[in-house]
Amino acid sequence: MARGKWSGTSRHARGRVARAFLYALAMCVVLVWGAVLVRWLGGADQARPSLGGSVTATAANAWSPVPDEVSIRSRFRWALSLDRPGHCTVIVGVHSLPRSAGLVKILEWFGEGVRRVPASAATADKESVPPLQRPKYLRGVTPLRLRALYNASSGTPSSTRGLTFSATTSPDAIRGETACSVSHLMALRWALGRGCHTALFLEDDTSLDLLPLWDRPVGDWVNLYCTPEAPVLQMELKMRAFVELGHSGPLQVERLPVRCSSRYALPHLYRKTYGTGAYGMSREGMRRTLSRFVLPTALPGVVVAADAESLARSAIDVSEVLRVGSHADVFVILNETTTRVLWPPYFYEQSDARSEVRPGTPDTGHRRVHRASALHAMQHNVRWAGECALVNA
Ligand SMILES: *[C@@H]1O[C@H](CO)[C@@H](O)[C@H](O)[C@H]1NC(C)=O
Ligand SMILES: *[C@@H]1O[C@H](CO)[C@@H](O)[C@H](O)[C@H]1NC(C)=O
Repeated sequence: MARGKWSGTSRHARGRVARAFLYALAMCVVLVWGAVLVRWLGGADQARPSLGGSVTATAANAWSPVPDEVSIRSRFRWALSLDRPGHCTVIVGVHSLPRSAGLVKILEWFGEGVRRVPASAATADKESVPPLQRPKYLRGVTPLRLRALYNASSGTPSSTRGLTFSATTSPDAIRGETACSVSHLMALRWALGRGCHTALFLEDDTSLDLLPLWDRPVGDWVNLYCTPEAPVLQMELKMRAFVELGHSGPLQVERLPVRCSSRYALPHLYRKTYGTGAYGMSREGMRRTLSRFVLPTALPGVVVAADAESLARSAIDVSEVLRVGSHADVFVILNETTTRVLWPPYFYEQSDARSEVRPGTPDTGHRRVHRASALHAMQHNVRWAGECALVNA
């Protein structure tokens, strides 16, 4: 038996085996990180095999061996597609600043919509990004604010901040999930009104820490994978299965071979692939999603029509959000028929971020799911980079 054999081994031999094992382990770690490093420093900006011509290589030479702030700024600018005509970046939150430090930096360097962000030396950068493409920080609504709006509407449809209630409800039914979905819908409406052709939507606690492992700018993936049939691309993934099973269960991401020429667009699974931390949409996706949640009958002064321009001026019907089940990543923003999931994902939700959805209630495992999913995102990106560095270099 293995155990007996081990016990019979002399201490000396055991020490040798242990040393050999540690040595092998250290070699593996060095090799993987070496490969990642090679990619960061050298390979990141070379053109990749073309994917049917729809992905363009617009790389800037951003990661120099000693990255200074200027090269980091241009790397972010490239990776977030801030120079892609018609592509918008919208950050949604309810605080005066995003909770993610990376997103605060992005706003400081390139963004608009936050007065408290300090003016930085990067003003010239901001001004060189066309206004449409400057990342926008959009303040959403809290459940408390929605309840107050509901009380003020006293059950009759009226529109405040472009929100309305078409049905009576118990104010207690208005929860964090409802406010979250409504805030996302406000972001879609803003992007439609702005004339964005494609957009990346980020929750304010989404981490940008995986960015050095991205192989293409966000806008390329949105352009490639947001098709008329599936106009939504989820770019952050949370799965309960990571905690409950230790792997992704039905999605079987562990079994996917690494594809260096392209990341995967996986199916979105009902009640399994959670996460609205980061997603891309085509204008058609924004239009289709928003059109389900505006008032079916017009209020005075409120336009109702299905074309994007009219939708951008319509009132969002909070009652309809409640009626379909409130959860943004299951019923409102993402769903099986419209959405696919980028894998390995570009983003994760910061695992130390407190969930905004139910402040004050005991954590029912959300945090563990966040953390496990973040770890999977990191692990698979590092594996991808490790295996692809030499192929793509
Ligand atoms: C809304 O009205 C209910 C009952 O009328 C009250 O208990 C609640 O505090 C009000 N909520 C807000 C946010 O005004
Ligand atoms: C998914 O969303 C699309 C558009 O946003 C909608 O047409 C469709 O009915 C939704 N499907 C489900 C199952 O909710």
